[in-house]
Amino acid sequence: MSRVLLLPGDGIGPEIVSAARQVLQKVSDQFELGIELTEGLIGGAAIDAHGVPLPDETLEAARTSDAILLGAVGGPKWDQIERSIRPERGLLQIRSALGLFANLRPALLMEQLADASSLKPELVAGLDLLIVRELTGGIYFGEPRGIRTLDNGERQGYNTQVYAESEIKRIAKVAFELAITRAKSWGEGMPAKVCSVDKANVLEVTELWREVVTEVAKDYPEVELTHMYVDNAAMQLVRAPKQFDVMVTGNLFGDILSDEAAMLTGSIGMLPSASLDANNKGIYEPCHGSAPDIAGQDLANPLATIMSVAMLLRYSLKAEAAAKAIESAVSSVLDDGLRTRDIMSPGMTEVGCQQMGEAVLAKL
Ligand SMILES: NC(=O)c1ccc[n+]([C@@H]2O[C@H](COP(=O)([O-])OP(=O)(O)OC[C@H]3O[C@@H](n4cnc5c(N)ncnc54)[C@H](O)[C@@H]3O)[C@@H](O)[C@H]2O)c1
Repeated sequence: MSRVLLLPGDGIGPEIVSAARQVLQKVSDQFELGIELTEGLIGGAAIDAHGVPLPDETLEAARTSDAILLGAVGGPKWDQIERSIRPERGLLQIRSALGLFANLRPALLMEQLADASSLKPELVAGLDLLIVRELTGGIYFGEPRGIRTLDNGERQGYNTQVYAESEIKRIAKVAFELAITRAKSWGEGMPAKVCSVDKANVLEVTELWREVVTEVAKDYPEVELTHMYVDNAAMQLVRAPKQFDVMVTGNLFGDILSDEAAMLTGSIGMLPSASLDANNKGIYEPCHGSAPDIAGQDLANPLATIMSVAMLLRYSLKAEAAAKAIESAVSSVLDDGLRTRDIMSPGMTEVGCQQMGEAVLAKL
């Protein structure tokens, strides 16, 4: 018996989580996992109901669940309210309260979608990289922060980029261990590689990052460690992305690079993610946002959220067979030529969010 909390959120969140919920329910029945599903409010939906983006009852439900599946938060409706209670704050608060410091963002190119990438198919076909982003530190949480008025009357915005040694150590360990697991899953003798991304030539905080990652690497002699400046990493990701295996980086750089990596795969609507604590409990969510431009129109791609369910089953519930069943159902639906608008290409059949979800269910 496991408990999974669903947090649909805003924009397309309710549509994609509804499709994913049915998939999760279906595999729970099929594989006799006995998963109990509950729902809660977060983001703008929670602000409308309770005045805050993360109500106490949502946090309590999250603490007592084994895993959480989240849609997305935010939208223009809440853009003008005070920064400290904006929808995105709810997300930062829940990640922080649950101690979810490791964000796993795979960029895996499904063969059927090689043409959907803006890069040449030969550059991306077979791409399988994993960005490990530190999630609870760095400039998104650093103090002091704010907007102040200088003596000359001009306003100045400021944030602080900070990383303690212990924060760098624990995320580096996650990256090295994942690299070893991935290499093993590919077969005997496959190399395990970690590329640590920083800006050590300019920022002292990332000079320390590089030093600490190098120290941690001594405990993992079987992993090949390289370092790369973030500007070069951004360039290399579009020049030759298949050179990377695991990339580990801080919160801000990871936020940007993982969206860039997302586009290598053709659509941000295809990419799942996981944010884990030290015990593999975590929040699973698509990499994309709440897409207010297409919300409520049955145009959203639910596959990133459905693939997030597969990750949830694999990492938090240890239900590998159910995870694999979902992944092959998704692959099979793509083989049939079904595409949502974001991944549509000539000769394929365009379907909406609901129909795509039903097609995956039918394959299961
Ligand atoms: N984790 C999160 O909840 C999260 C992440 C990023 C942005 N946001 C919030 O989402 C809102 C919109 O942000 P944005 O426009 O920068 O990013 P976005 O990811 O929501 O949308 C970017 C573009 O991708 C498209 N898109 C995204 N997901 C899609 C899907 N599943 N299927 C088809 N198309 C999809 C959108 O239509 C849009 O054109 C903002 O309020 C932002 O703060 C939330």
